[in-house]
Order: sequence, then structure tokens, then C-alpha cells
Amino acid sequence: MVDKVFQDFNVYDKLVLSDSDFTKIKNYIEKKTGIRVSENKKILIQTRLLKRLKALKLKDYSQYCKYAFSGDSHEELINLIDCITTNKTDFFREINHFNFLYNYALPYLFYRKSKINIWSAACSSGEEPYSIAMVVQEYLSKNNLKNDFLVFGTDISTRVLKNAIVAIYPLYKIKEVPREYRKYFLKSKDPTKKLIRISPEIRKKVKFGRFNLLDDFKPMEKMDIIFCRNVFIYFEKIIQENILKKFFEQLNEGGFLFVGHSETFQGLKTNFKRAAPSIYIKED
Ligand SMILES: C[S@@+](CC[C@H](N)C(=O)[O-])C[C@H]1O[C@@H](n2cnc3c(N)ncnc32)[C@H](O)[C@@H]1O
Repeated sequence: MVDKVFQDFNVYDKLVLSDSDFTKIKNYIEKKTGIRVSENKKILIQTRLLKRLKALKLKDYSQYCKYAFSGDSHEELINLIDCITTNKTDFFREINHFNFLYNYALPYLFYRKSKINIWSAACSSGEEPYSIAMVVQEYLSKNNLKNDFLVFGTDISTRVLKNAIVAIYPLYKIKEVPREYRKYFLKSKDPTKKLIRISPEIRKKVKFGRFNLLDDFKPMEKMDIIFCRNVFIYFEKIIQENILKKFFEQLNEGGFLFVGHSETFQGLKTNFKRAAPSIYIKED
């Protein structure tokens, strides 16, 4: 009987997230992820959390908060973060970065090193790290080089990471990909499916894991390139400075940091030197 009532979506549609529950969620998200949650996000959060209420068959948002913050619902707190994050991304987003990577960063680094590590920190569903891997692979084959590389894709959201690992995307996404890189995609054998998958050659060069940028970076390997794009904007200045400091320590000398085109370091304390618009270098 209870199940029947909750299967009726109208019951859920009338539920409202109270101001006090919203504040609990907002405080948790800000503390845990660094993402600022403005007051006008209340409706968005209410809508996104509805799915969780339905999945858990909970009566209202206050029950949800009790459940999520009860102390033994670690799993649910991961789901809560998943509901709140903005994961918009594309293949070859902000193409200038990929041109710089091919024309300047890779020649510079591969001249000095036989193997490089690249980190796509806040990689969302994988389009960014796979685009990076395609560019590096293409650079090595075109120049007949035997150097090696590995791309690490990390994000706080487990939901997007699952998609990244599967590496299957809707066919229309190929339009974002420059022609010379389309060979790194496999089309579904069933044309009605309209899906593409990253080729095994590229997949094997990209490793994924969950990582919160607010956490200690020590477990990560040293990097030669870090992409951290379109996530800085969500953080307070003090968190931005702290993460920049950790990126600086995490990079080998001569390493590059790429941030989103709309993310500037103006007014932030950092030892990075500007190499190009929204690209920075840790000088030797
Ligand atoms: C808008 S997407 C950007 C994806 C990609 N970098 C790009 O530019 O296309 C932002 C990503 O940052 C992730 N994120 C937010 N806060 C984070 C944190 N504290 N640690 C790691 N990832 C975080 C989100 O889950 C989301 O996938």
C-alpha cells in the first residue's frame, strides 16, 4: 500500500525542500566540495534530489536529510554530491588548449622526457581526458616517436566517472571532434543505436578514479601537465589559492597547468608563470 502511494509521482511533485534542510545541504556541499551553492539554487537542488527520494522511497526532504546525514550513509552523501555537481563538458572543448598542447607543450616535454603523466582533474564524463590522449597519441605517431604517456582522469562525481569508464557517447558528439581525430572513435555496429565508443588504443592510455580537489594530493603521482578547467569558478578565492598551491607542488618543473578560458588568476597568489591565455607553466 505504502509503495503504491509513492509510485504516484504527484505525491512527490508536491514536496518542498524547506529552508532549513536546504541550508543543511548547502553547508555540507560547500564544506565537502568547495562548490558555492547560492540561495537561488534551492529549486534546482529540490528537483535533482527528487530522484533520490523516489529511489529510497522516502516520504519527504526532511526524511532524506535525516537519512543522508545520519552518520552511516556514506554512500548517500556521494549520491548527494552527484546530484549537485554541474558536469557539462565536450570533446575538444576550448580548442586553443589542444593546439597549444600539440604545438608547444608536447614538443617541449617529450624532448626532455621519455614518459609524461597528464592529469585531467575534474574530468566529468571523460571527454576531456580522452581528447588529451588522442592529441598525445597523434603527436607521437605523426612524429614517429616511441615516448610514452598516461592520462589520469579524476572527478568527485561517481556518476560521471561511470560513463567515462564505459567510454560510450551519443553519435552527435563526433561533431565536436576535429576530422583528424575521428579515427579514434568506433561506430556502433548497430546503426540504429547512434552511439560511438573511444577506441581501445586510446582507452588503455586513460585511467579514472574518484578524487576530491579539496583533499590531500600526496597519493597522486607527480604530473607534467594538469588540466583543471571549468571548476575553479565554483570555488571561493581561498580554496582556489589553496588548490593552485597544491597543483604547483604536484607538477614537475617545466610542467603546464591549463584552466578554463573564463578562469583567471587575477588577484590570486601563485608561483605559476603565464605561458599563454589560460595556460601556466612551473618554470625550472
Ligand atoms: C563543468 S565540469 C568541467 C569538465 C571538464 N573539465 C571541462 O572543462 O569540460 C566540472 C566538474 O568538476 C567536478 N567537481 C566539482 N567539485 C569538485 C571537487 N571538489 N573535486 C573534484 N571534482 C569536482 C564536477 O563533478 C564536474 O564534473
